[in-house]
Amino acid sequence: LLLPIGVVLASYLVGSLSFAVIVSRLMGLNDPRSYGSKNPGATNVLRSGNKKAAILTLLFDAFKGWLPVWLVLGFGPAHGLGVEVAALAGLAAFLGHLYPVFFGFVGGKGVATAVGVLLGINGLLALATVGTFAIVVYFSRYVSLASMVAAVFAPVYYLFGDGVAWQASAAEVLCLAVMAVLLVWRHRENINRLFAGTESKLGAKKS
Ligand code: G3P
Repeated sequence: LLLPIGVVLASYLVGSLSFAVIVSRLMGLNDPRSYGSKNPGATNVLRSGNKKAAILTLLFDAFKGWLPVWLVLGFGPAHGLGVEVAALAGLAAFLGHLYPVFFGFVGGKGVATAVGVLLGINGLLALATVGTFAIVVYFSRYVSLASMVAAVFAPVYYLFGDGVAWQASAAEVLCLAVMAVLLVWRHRENINRLFAGTESKLGAKKS
């Protein structure tokens, strides 16, 4: 039992690395928690005007979601770790991003990290979900709306692909569903802004 607990704990710690803050600090930019939506995430870092910083944030925040799932799925079975541990590890990394122990438990909304987890579970699943995101963002220009729609569709796609594109596991379905609920919950201010018509669109520098 020590190994799975250690794996989940380590995943949470990796997830707690808030790369929006880390990348911004390393590149000498303002803290993303001080401007725009105040969210430590790639979308808000983009509002600083520095595209490179935003892309790096996106990549690293996704990477930390992908890594634990990929490691457990790949190397876990030899050590008695099943898909349940992989799902829990992904969820733990996601929770680390939302509630990072290194940053006073004030984290982001989990979009990039969820993409990483999806990629760890299945590349095609990630592609379908990111495709959904792309379509919604293309037509609406709202990253938040696209993120929420895509997150809700992810477990649906996963269930639909069962037996066709992959063998779905209950643990992973649950992990994706919990991530979707938390992701939408973390966007509650965005939801208010969307209804009020004050949500910032992609490309606009001001929040
Ligand atoms: O990166 C999360 C995105 O969906 C919304 O971010 O900064 O517009 O609240 P933000």
